[in-house]
Amino acid sequence: MPDASARTPYVAGNWKMHMTVAATRAYVDKLLGRLPLGKGVEIGLCAPFTALAVAVECVDGSGVKVLAQNMHQAAEGAFTGEVSGPMLVELGVAGVVLGHSERRRDNCETDRALQEKVPAALEAGLAPILCVGESEEEREDGETQRKLRHQVQEGLLSVSDERLAEVTIAYEPIWAIGTGRVATPDQAQEAIAFIRALVGDRSQEAARAVRVLYGGSVNAENAGEILSQPDVDGALVGGASLDPEEFARIVGAALT
Ligand code: PGA
Repeated sequence: MPDASARTPYVAGNWKMHMTVAATRAYVDKLLGRLPLGKGVEIGLCAPFTALAVAVECVDGSGVKVLAQNMHQAAEGAFTGEVSGPMLVELGVAGVVLGHSERRRDNCETDRALQEKVPAALEAGLAPILCVGESEEEREDGETQRKLRHQVQEGLLSVSDERLAEVTIAYEPIWAIGTGRVATPDQAQEAIAFIRALVGDRSQEAARAVRVLYGGSVNAENAGEILSQPDVDGALVGGASLDPEEFARIVGAALT
């Protein structure tokens, strides 16, 4: 039966709309030599669609995984401008970020669509990272748990109990994303323990195995304290992941 010590720490860099093909080559070249590869931490790079193929090529043989930042729930069809799970798998992409708050805010990403996207990703052979998190107003109004319950339950609704632990959940409070206002270790631990308990409402076994990451203004200075919390299994890192040296230090912090 998996427990906390059996959960492999996971650190993923979310590049957002950064990195050309050329910049990706240069970045991975700098990153690989700095990473603690093969030491029991899973490492992911969430690249824009246009840089996925070159990222896969550059990390080949290192164990570092490449993830997309979104996908459509259908395998194919008349959906102009969209990209499907099977198309990502063909490139050698290992996973996909789903429901990032920037996509919920700017691209009409709904819980209804995520209900289809999460199982579609699994079906295609991609490991999804489902992002959830409350706004500042919701936190101030004492609505954090209600919001998290809604997002987690909706996002996982169509995933079978047997496959729940294949989904990674990223707790990303909206007020902490890109603001420099990182959640306190206690706030991250409390919310992530709550998310784990929500998974436990479906399956206790999945709750012990599922990885829940923290995201929002993680950097090399604050990563160690947050990652040392018992329920925090890793980090989804935005801005600080764009510097390969800093990202490698954050990955290192997941090992201590
Ligand atoms: P940030 O972004 O680290 O720049 O706050 C995190 C994220 O959006 O995943």
